[in-house]
Amino acid sequence: MILVLLGAPGAGKGTQAEALAAATGAAHVATGDLFRAEIAAGSELGITAKSFIDAGKLVPDEVTIAMIAERLARPDAAERVILDGFPRTAAQAEALDRAYAASGRRIEALLLEVDRDALVARLTGRRVCPSCGRSYHVTNRPPRAEGRCDACDAALITRTDDAPETVAARLENQLGALETVVALYRDSGRLGVVSGSGGIDEIRERLATAATAVGLTPR
Ligand code: AP5
Repeated sequence: MILVLLGAPGAGKGTQAEALAAATGAAHVATGDLFRAEIAAGSELGITAKSFIDAGKLVPDEVTIAMIAERLARPDAAERVILDGFPRTAAQAEALDRAYAASGRRIEALLLEVDRDALVARLTGRRVCPSCGRSYHVTNRPPRAEGRCDACDAALITRTDDAPETVAARLENQLGALETVVALYRDSGRLGVVSGSGGIDEIRERLATAATAVGLTPR
């Protein structure tokens, strides 16, 4: 099955998808991570994506759909997948449905709901490891040694799109698109809603329960 994890920028999709993937054995596929890897590699796709990401805008559908199709064709995505950050537009959701219509593979969505003030606080306080990609928060999920990654000791950085002015642009530009995608899954009877407020551990339990209910069971 494919579980689509929906939520606004900073809702905790990455944090929770990682934990859910570990518990269920599903592949965690995050479009933001795929774009950041392309940017780091200096590829043409990365150069295109960076201009949109740094402006807080969505990367065009044709680029994003082609990238995700290539990723979902890999063997680790053949059975259970958690999609984090995709789909974000009606065209992306329709492309995903079309891609799996013939196979009968189930696609279910869970929405992590978080209020706007919490989103801003989570995004502006996030720090990431440029080496292994691990994510932290200055107060909510601090590393053991200030400014250093627990796993590889690299110096933590702030994502360029987590600068306060870009956070404002991301929320401004992307919340409407999220509503469209949420409505699409709700109207087709494939949407569950999970509160994304509170501590990371309690949300993990709520999400695990909701995921089990739609068929993504622990392994
Ligand atoms: P992407 O990387 O997907 O960014 P995003 O959706 O804006 O999501 P984030 O990664 O910022 O947040 P998250 O929900 O994963 O939260 P996290 O767990 O990290 O995409 C980046 C850009 O790429 C987009 O802006 C767009 O330009 C482009 N893009 C990506 N997908 C695209 C698509 N499909 N189409 C077109 N363009 C696309 O948590 C955030 C912080 O909060 C962390 O510091 C974490 O430690 C902390 N935290 C998490 N949970 C809690 C909690 N419960 N309490 C307190 N703190 C918490």
